[in-house]
Amino acid sequence: MGAGGKEAWLGAAAGALGVLAVAGAAGLLVVYSGAYNVAATEEHASFTRWAFDTTMQNSVERRASDLPAPAPTAEMVAAGASEYREYCQHCHAGPGVERAEWASGMRPRPPHLTEAAANWSPQEVFWLVRHGVKMSGMPAFGPTHDDATLWNIVAFVKELPAMTPERYAELGAGEEAH
Ligand code: HEC
Repeated sequence: MGAGGKEAWLGAAAGALGVLAVAGAAGLLVVYSGAYNVAATEEHASFTRWAFDTTMQNSVERRASDLPAPAPTAEMVAAGASEYREYCQHCHAGPGVERAEWASGMRPRPPHLTEAAANWSPQEVFWLVRHGVKMSGMPAFGPTHDDATLWNIVAFVKELPAMTPERYAELGAGEEAH
């Protein structure tokens, strides 16, 4: 490398360090100044939302893709229905049933799984339910439920996008939650 090349390299390195220092200082300013509004009455800014969604998507995909998944059976779906009604419906709603009123006050708002369940593989749903999602309000059910019960819930959740309100009620999942 000639003297000129070396200078250019040092200049670029100093520039990069400068950018990092400014970004770091801006980050600390956000943390300490109280400028960021944590109120759940306001929607997330679109950048925050994008960063959170993308982080969650990639994190779950990376950790869940190799999990061995049992083939779902009708018994598993039926067993998962009552678990869903007890532990999930008040946040995630169901065919013909709204989420509990208070759950609409959450940010992020828990999605209707009648739609969102189609975006995740069975392994990913299992991982999400077992481990939960930090800083989102999605609880981890692994500490309180064994894997067999969680796979029952997964079998049920994966049927939700195609499930009619009648079928949902028939499975005993449709009663109003509070
Ligand atoms: C207290 C409310 C609450 C309960 C109870 C709850 N969840 Fe969640 N769940 C959330 C929130 C909040 C998210 C994250 C939403 C986001 O970031 O978009 C989430 C995310 C999810 C996701 C990913 C969906 C997506 O596209 O973001 C799945 C799948 C899921 N939950 C399944 C379940 C199941 C199954 C149960 C019951 C065993 C359950 N959840 C119980 C609040 C809840």
